[in-house]
Amino acid sequence: MQSNKWLTRQDKDRYVKMAKDFSFVSRSSFKLIEIENKFNLISKSINVLELGSSPGGWSQVICKINKKAKIDAFDLLNMHYSNKNITFYKKDFMKFDFKILNKKYDLILSDMAPNTIGHKATDHLRIISLIEELILILDKIAHINSNFIFKIWKGSEEKKIINTLKNKFKNTTYYKPKSSRSESSEIYIVACGFIG
Ligand SMILES: C[S@@+](CC[C@H](N)C(=O)[O-])C[C@H]1O[C@@H](n2cnc3c(N)ncnc32)[C@H](O)[C@@H]1O
Repeated sequence: MQSNKWLTRQDKDRYVKMAKDFSFVSRSSFKLIEIENKFNLISKSINVLELGSSPGGWSQVICKINKKAKIDAFDLLNMHYSNKNITFYKKDFMKFDFKILNKKYDLILSDMAPNTIGHKATDHLRIISLIEELILILDKIAHINSNFIFKIWKGSEEKKIINTLKNKFKNTTYYKPKSSRSESSEIYIVACGFIG
């Protein structure tokens, strides 16, 4: 997108303005607030794993909603937000050995987004492969009855992912927050009650 078009869209985007007004480090915060308003999962979680945490908009929301939540946050890039309840790992989650932490989580969140090339089908496959890697390690990192929220860009493989999750969680559903741009193919999948 041309930079002047992007700026015009940003000026008009009330969520960018609201993110500034509320001192959120990213507009993504509002998506998580909407997800929480609907599913109420952050408020009942203590051990939270957040993948793709930078710059920190989601972490801010978790810390505001639940002062008892302990967050292990992972990203390739630096965080612009810190809090005593966040332990940040500047790492690729796929290269991290979670056995070191010797911990299971009540809530696993992924807002991870790979580098895009602007080719929808390829970008879709890239984000799906991140989520597939994450699903492969769920048994090691997720508590029984835990919950899982993650982002994908819609495309050919989404049904396969949903079907895999339907065998691993009691309920799996899609959610498109109003603060997610309507022209974006991003969608969140919320899977509740990990069976194992
Ligand atoms: C849309 S941003 C996340 C925004 C964040 N939820 C917030 O509210 O500030 C996506 C992030 O995913 C991260 N990411 C992509 N691949 C990753 C990987 N393999 N491991 C960890 N983080 C990754 C990117 O570095 C990027 O910062």
